[in-house]
Amino acid sequence: MKVAPGASTGLVFPLGNSDKNIFSSPDEVKLDRRPNPHVAFGFGPHLCLGAAHVRLVVRTLMDTLCDKVARIQIFEHT
Ligand code: HEM
Repeated sequence: MKVAPGASTGLVFPLGNSDKNIFSSPDEVKLDRRPNPHVAFGFGPHLCLGAAHVRLVVRTLMDTLCDKVARIQIFEHT
């Protein structure tokens, strides 16, 4: 694909996390996925500066949820 000079482009990071060549069953939530080379926080010199904060928040959320909730059922919507 050619990009004309001066044209704008965009990068949708989450799409990289759905790459079937990299992730087995990418649409499945696997909290213990290893290895997990996702790019949700970007990569390289502009890696998200909030990544450590977000990981702590989500870990705390998951810990609290697991303490308080016995079972989670996911309903698929159409
Ligand atoms: C789930 C939450 C978040 C996601 C998915 C996320 C995702 C991202 C991604 C993909 C980038 C790279 C953008 C690029 O390369 O153009 C980025 C950069 C950045 N993020 Fe986050 N972010 C999150 C939360 C946060 C929070 C909470 C903070 C600050 C408290 C933060 C601060 C930053 C900063 C400052 C950058 C720019 C880093 C740079 O350009 O050097 N992010 N984030």
